[in-house]
Amino acid sequence: MLYSEKVMDHFMHPRNVGEIENADGVGEVGNAKCGDIMKIYLKIDGGVVTDAKFQTFGCGSAIATSSMATEMIIGKPVEEAANLSNKAVVEALDGLPTHKIHCSVLAEEAVKAALKDYYDKNHIAYDPEAYCTGDCCHCHDEG
Ligand code: FES
Repeated sequence: MLYSEKVMDHFMHPRNVGEIENADGVGEVGNAKCGDIMKIYLKIDGGVVTDAKFQTFGCGSAIATSSMATEMIIGKPVEEAANLSNKAVVEALDGLPTHKIHCSVLAEEAVKAALKDYYDKNHIAYDPEAYCTGDCCHCHDEG
């Protein structure tokens, strides 16, 4: 079987699909490789992610990783959410086929872009290198 049961479950029954009105942080990133787009909305209260929702025009792996990523960051302090790696999401899903790993990068970058938006709006300092600006190699240069 190419996909794990967890991937299939999150693909068939994605958690946290939708949008959050008046979100504290919104991040949108695109994957130049496949043209897929992911948008993540965060509600942040007292430095903790209290809610997360996503919308994606993407493949099944992008849906499954976004779904898992939102579950993993809800209830976490923003610093911890910022450290969420695509590797951790893939592990939580019991793996993805190698040629689908790039799809999980989309989820990690969308979370980071949403946090960056939150930091910008609230004038919180951050390391710009660590956050996707929607302008890096993953977003544009891969072909
Ligand atoms: Fe584009 Fe998966 S093929 S995100």
